[in-house]
Amino acid sequence: MGEDKKFSPLGEKSARIIAEIDKYSATNYSPYPFVVEKAEGPWLIDPEGNKALDFLSAYSAILSHRHPGIIKAVEDEMRHGSDLVSRALYSARFAEMVRAVTRLTGYDRVLPKSDGGSAADSAISGLLMHGHERGIKNPEVILTKDYFHGRTWIFASNALFDSDQSFRRLPRAQGIVVVDNTLEAIGKAINKNTVGMFLETHKGEGGPIFSKKEFLVGVKKLCDVHNLFLGLDEIQTGLGRCGYIMAWQEYGEEARPDFVTLGKALGGGIIPVSAVVGTEEFMKVYTPGSDGSTYGGYPIACAAAVAALKYIEEEDIPKKSRELGDYFVQKLRKEIPGIAVENRGLLIRVELKGVKTAEHVCQEMLLGKREPRIFMKHGHYDKEKDVAYTRIAPPPGAMTKELIDLAVENTIAPTLKNLK
Ligand SMILES: Cc1ncc(COP(=O)(O)O)c(C=O)c1O
Repeated sequence: MGEDKKFSPLGEKSARIIAEIDKYSATNYSPYPFVVEKAEGPWLIDPEGNKALDFLSAYSAILSHRHPGIIKAVEDEMRHGSDLVSRALYSARFAEMVRAVTRLTGYDRVLPKSDGGSAADSAISGLLMHGHERGIKNPEVILTKDYFHGRTWIFASNALFDSDQSFRRLPRAQGIVVVDNTLEAIGKAINKNTVGMFLETHKGEGGPIFSKKEFLVGVKKLCDVHNLFLGLDEIQTGLGRCGYIMAWQEYGEEARPDFVTLGKALGGGIIPVSAVVGTEEFMKVYTPGSDGSTYGGYPIACAAAVAALKYIEEEDIPKKSRELGDYFVQKLRKEIPGIAVENRGLLIRVELKGVKTAEHVCQEMLLGKREPRIFMKHGHYDKEKDVAYTRIAPPPGAMTKELIDLAVENTIAPTLKNLK
């Protein structure tokens, strides 16, 4: 496969926009050369009118681009409600948001934030603060290898999955222990300083890698035996994408963590909304001043979240993701014999054997000659297995069997079959 071939922008206007961003933006991303001017349902549209199916969904955040119900709720709040109200006062929309989130998740309390990284960061602070309450001088939280919980210092400096990432040069934040993804390794790491664990139910950025029932239930048992808190990061996997409101629910109440982090789809792809959501016992650690944020839980964010949750429930997004995800995987297996794929709902892992990176393959689907164009982002390369991962995560609310057929038959299958 000609991995050196570079793909060009699809037109002059696109090229100008890309040149401007490349000149003035910080260089912390390396985007594919496709410019989005408009987004609608499952489609991304560039200034030249080229359309691409969005199979990344902003890292699983999008249910359907520009959903009219969520836009209306945000517009109504902006026109007739209020703008920024800090948590120094109460607001009616915040009441609606915490009511909806607790009802849907079965937890007691909600700590609102904006981006996923800061909710995950608050989760770690909560765990470490519990450690201090227990009289532990140097409390520890266990994470597992290949995690992704956002780019705050505590996570970036402890990250292990991608040796090419420059954030490994950061001085390492204390309080985190990173171990292998096995019950044995986790069990061994538990000591008198351990307060809890924080894991993704299924790893999104590091794979996707799907946890088995024995693993998650086993982790929960270890936590019970050693009196530790279990937090699960559902920022990518939650709110329907994996077929459940929270992906751990696939394994029943035995897997129920003490708290979850939610984000991404919680803002309906329109406003950044995230949260730590947990039991009374865990959440009581957040005393006044110990956490907070100016925009966390402000009325416009809450209006977006309430509308997004309403949409998820009314359209039964979990069921839709389960059915369409399974259909997608069957279709891939039928059209590409021997393909290695696994899914939970509409979070689908594709393994490309003997390919050093899936970047070129993904760019070809987006910028090559086939229609429909498809945007999916390459994942990381596993040296030991000689496998490049890529993830398919379409917007569940905008997907149909017809679109899946079209995408697999016309673009994905012909591109992947050509690899050999
Ligand atoms: C599981 C998980 N946690 C946290 C984050 C960070 O979210 P954000 O990019 O909104 O900070 C991500 C983002 O991909 C994620 O997948």
